[in-house]
Amino acid sequence: MADERQNPIRLGTTAPNFEAETTQGPIKFHDWIGDSWCVFFSHPEDYTPVCTTELGAFAKLQPEFTKRNVKMIGLSANTVDSHDGWIKDINEISQCNLTFPIIGDKERKIAYAYDMIDHQDMSNVDSKGIAFTIRSVFVIDPKKTIRLIMSYPASTGRNAAEVLRVVDSLQTGDKHRITTPINWIPGEDVIVHPGVSNEEAKTLFPDFRIVKPYLRFTPLPADKI
Ligand code: BEZ
Repeated sequence: MADERQNPIRLGTTAPNFEAETTQGPIKFHDWIGDSWCVFFSHPEDYTPVCTTELGAFAKLQPEFTKRNVKMIGLSANTVDSHDGWIKDINEISQCNLTFPIIGDKERKIAYAYDMIDHQDMSNVDSKGIAFTIRSVFVIDPKKTIRLIMSYPASTGRNAAEVLRVVDSLQTGDKHRITTPINWIPGEDVIVHPGVSNEEAKTLFPDFRIVKPYLRFTPLPADKI
């Protein structure tokens, strides 16, 4: 069982540091992230169908994450040897070249630290015989602060483009005093942060428009995104 005294993993907390074996050799997590952003995600099990499609999709999007200074790293409760064999299948099936590391967390130590376990598996580890982790995603910024947490069930593959979209929103929001509306993608209008007065907004966002006093949109010039 996870140590119940452990601090909860929440948005805004520091990502737990750890040492791990990966398909790219041993890492110390915070050192490995360095000055980059990080997308850290788990999958339930190597050599399973949904996971295979997911890892292929993440691998194909890796150049987009790299452009945004984001390092990707996966994890499941399998060995590094198992990951190595499975990566060959992923590359063949998805016609990709998966180069980001995948952590071997057979003992689920890191999975527990990041609460990547579903309720049933917390109490049903041995009888089940399969060390499932759920489909968790953490976006971690260069200060090692957790900025996004997603938990998907084993039965549902994620949307890799959505993870990239959130990175775009977070990075844009860190640069400008804005938030982003539903389904926003880069290039679309953003929302002037509620903490910005109309007077300030006139200077910061000359083309902003007021829909309601609490809802103000503005374009962001492409060079500001
Ligand atoms: C899958 O990747 O297909 C999968 C893995 C574990 C449980 C259910 C589905």
